[in-house]
Amino acid sequence: MYYASLIFIHVLAAGVAVGGLAFCALILLPALESPPDEAIEKSARYKILSLLAPTVFACLLALIVTGMTYLSDAYTEQVNLKSGYYNLFGAKMLVVVGAFFLSLYQTFSLRGKILNLDLRPENREGLPAVLNKMASVGRLILGLITVAMFLGVWLARF
Ligand code: HEM
Repeated sequence: MYYASLIFIHVLAAGVAVGGLAFCALILLPALESPPDEAIEKSARYKILSLLAPTVFACLLALIVTGMTYLSDAYTEQVNLKSGYYNLFGAKMLVVVGAFFLSLYQTFSLRGKILNLDLRPENREGLPAVLNKMASVGRLILGLITVAMFLGVWLARF
């Protein structure tokens, strides 16, 4: 029951991250019309991108915490694993590290440039470019988390 709950939270966080990113990056954002530059702060695109970044980051934190807790608590189940399991695990960790740092950059660097424009009006000028960059980084994170998800499912059935 404990392990099932851990993996349930793990899979739920993966689903929220991939589902949220896929819906926003592939369906919603391309369907929205570009607002005129002066209305950009009130646009759905601005709001979606500023909320999506910390949501994905929180999911990645949940994935890392539950994944590591599972690994450290279920070690007795990991004694007779087939050789190659940890190669696959290593490949998954490389992909996860890439997704984590991109999400860190998106949430704390890029998002920082689009928030509190009243206090930092000089950031207003570069806003469309930063939003485009956030959308591109989001697509990249989506690709990496999808690969990590596939490797996770493979790992559980190795
Ligand atoms: C982008 C991040 C990640 C995604 C999308 C992801 C996804 C998944 C998925 C879908 C599963 C399969 C669950 C199942 O079918 O039962 C899984 C299993 C697992 N994941 Fe992750 N995961 C991520 C990060 C991590 C991290 C950071 C760790 C550890 C440090 C980790 C450790 C594990 C372990 C130990 C399993 C179980 C494998 C087994 O049953 O042998 N995962 N993961």
